[in-house]
Amino acid sequence: MHKEKRNDVASRRGFLRNLTALGAAGGTMLAEAAHADTTRDGAAGTQIAQSEEPKPKPKPKPAITAVLDKGDFKTLQEIVLAAKRNLPPDLWTHLTGGSDSETTIRRNRLAFETLALRQRVLVNVNQIDLSTTLLGQTLAFPLFISPVGGYTGLAHPQGVLPVIRAAESVGTVAVVASNVRPGFEAAAKASQHPFISQLYITSDRKWLTDRLDRVRKAGYRGLAVTVDRNFYARRERDLITGFERGGASDDTSHQASLDWDLIDWIRDYSKLPLILKGVATGEDAELAVKHGATVVWVSNHGGRQLDQGEGTLDVLPEVVKAVRGRAEVVLDGGVLRGSDVVKALCLGARAVGVGKLMGYSLAAGGESGVRCMLELMQTEIRSVMGLIGARSVKELNASRVKRAMPVQYPTVTSAFPWFEEQLRQV
Ligand SMILES: Cc1cc2nc3c(=O)[nH]c(=O)nc-3n(C[C@H](O)[C@H](O)[C@H](O)COP(=O)(O)O)c2cc1C
Repeated sequence: MHKEKRNDVASRRGFLRNLTALGAAGGTMLAEAAHADTTRDGAAGTQIAQSEEPKPKPKPKPAITAVLDKGDFKTLQEIVLAAKRNLPPDLWTHLTGGSDSETTIRRNRLAFETLALRQRVLVNVNQIDLSTTLLGQTLAFPLFISPVGGYTGLAHPQGVLPVIRAAESVGTVAVVASNVRPGFEAAAKASQHPFISQLYITSDRKWLTDRLDRVRKAGYRGLAVTVDRNFYARRERDLITGFERGGASDDTSHQASLDWDLIDWIRDYSKLPLILKGVATGEDAELAVKHGATVVWVSNHGGRQLDQGEGTLDVLPEVVKAVRGRAEVVLDGGVLRGSDVVKALCLGARAVGVGKLMGYSLAAGGESGVRCMLELMQTEIRSVMGLIGARSVKELNASRVKRAMPVQYPTVTSAFPWFEEQLRQV
């Protein structure tokens, strides 16, 4: 076995032994650590994530059955099932849940499921070019990994590092979350080409200045400011399972005060290409361009923030129209299949991100699991493009899709019918 892979397996085994020792209580305590995702960012959050080992409470039941370095899944559905088996219930719930009535999370899927692909035939598709570029970086295929905060640190002892390695090994990239374990600087060091650092603002201007200096020094190509989390939404499933930590000590006023003036300041001070993550209307897309955004990122946080919002794929056309080619447009939210990626590209996205799908694959098989997921997505994208007669991503446009009736009431996992059947049989 490859040395790096052996280390990965060993460290994951140790990590899981700790989790097992934690028993049922482990989920909640880990959830509290993960709440760094929601309450603590940057240097302080990183330190806490690294140094605060949850203290075992005497509870009997193992939380996780087995997670090894595993990348031999034949389908995405098996990855999701393995994740469901491996994750403690409250962490699964945290990963898959949305806010309030979870309308936005379902609309993300509904938007994909109500768009059909138009099948064009007799085109020689023996060679298909899946590559695209983002911020001048070539991606082997138009899929990247969205930031998922503290989650990676809960699903893997090395946090985001295996995710970065997996992405780079197949020619794509992972965006590094604000509060990631083992820290955005360590993540940059582990990258062949540090890509995008995502930012939440959790303290005053002095903190922000220092943070931006460090992001630039770490060598990131771009800075993504997440703009759809001025308030932390009510994720009721987390409240019910106890995942949400009461009395979070962070001063949330910094996130709540974020506005276009501060965006201007951040852009000027950081001197990095600016990415605005969480744009969901044409009006804000227009403003984003006016305020110097290099990338407009259509996102609703995977349905975890504003409920009763639109699906991101439904929003995409008005954003693309408003941007008028003056910035690159990317999208995430509900992407679970290669066909979803192709549909988003048809409507004008340059590349597409996955959050939950990465979360499943990391829980299912560590670094190999993430690599396997990315390879399967690449295979699906290639196959769909071949079947609609598209030889390169440049040939994808609105003429290749058409509105259609949904075939089911969408759920967060309805793209995986076999997986849902397995759950019903248990
Ligand atoms: C567990 C979890 C944690 C997340 N944490 C962050 C974060 O720290 N920063 C951020 O900008 N977005 C965060 N997001 C949102 C993702 O970046 C992305 O927008 C979303 O997951 C895309 O939707 P999808 O999960 O349906 O693919 C998180 C999403 C999940 C599922």
